[in-house]
Amino acid sequence: MPLDAAAFRSVMGAFPTGIVIVTTLDGTGVPKGLTTQSFISVSTGPPLLLVSLAKTSRTLRALLSTRAFVVNFLAADRGDLATRFASKDEDKFTGVAWRPAASAKGAPILADDSVAYAECVLSREIDAGDHTLLLASVEDGAVLSGAPLMYYRRTYAAWPEERDAPAL
Ligand SMILES: Cc1cc2nc3c(=O)[nH]c(=O)nc-3n(C[C@H](O)[C@H](O)[C@H](O)COP(=O)(O)O)c2cc1C
Repeated sequence: MPLDAAAFRSVMGAFPTGIVIVTTLDGTGVPKGLTTQSFISVSTGPPLLLVSLAKTSRTLRALLSTRAFVVNFLAADRGDLATRFASKDEDKFTGVAWRPAASAKGAPILADDSVAYAECVLSREIDAGDHTLLLASVEDGAVLSGAPLMYYRRTYAAWPEERDAPAL
């Protein structure tokens, strides 16, 4: 018999990860986004990544209409933003600086709040229980400075070290 949901969550929560905000535009150009930790880098040639979004997510609905998104790797001091984007607020972007991603159909890049970002175009969606896996081609991206935000056993924490962006 499969593990029950509470036990599953607590076992998965014992694995520390970074935190990302996935952003997109809906069909009318309104920015949407959510906090997630379920991000993986999949392939380097071609560059592919994967995120897993709940079928109830409003961001997923918008993303499936525009089929492009940005993965924003959150900076250590932006736990407040992680909390806001994990909520069901209507106005998550109020007061948040962003610019449109040229290679991801204008999806929001949160450069002031991130240590790196990846501009993605959706290549395939895969049904997975109560989530949808989104496999995407990485069209552009950049590394910024700072330390990333981590998540472990329901708690946010800063990576202990800040780093400058490497010369590419
Ligand atoms: C640490 C953390 C990790 C999360 N991971 C995911 C995830 O992998 N997939 C997902 O769909 N939601 C995840 N969520 C929950 C969403 O952020 C939350 O359901 C949000 O309200 C969805 O917003 P939306 O409906 O506006 O898209 C996570 C939340 C937190 C705090």
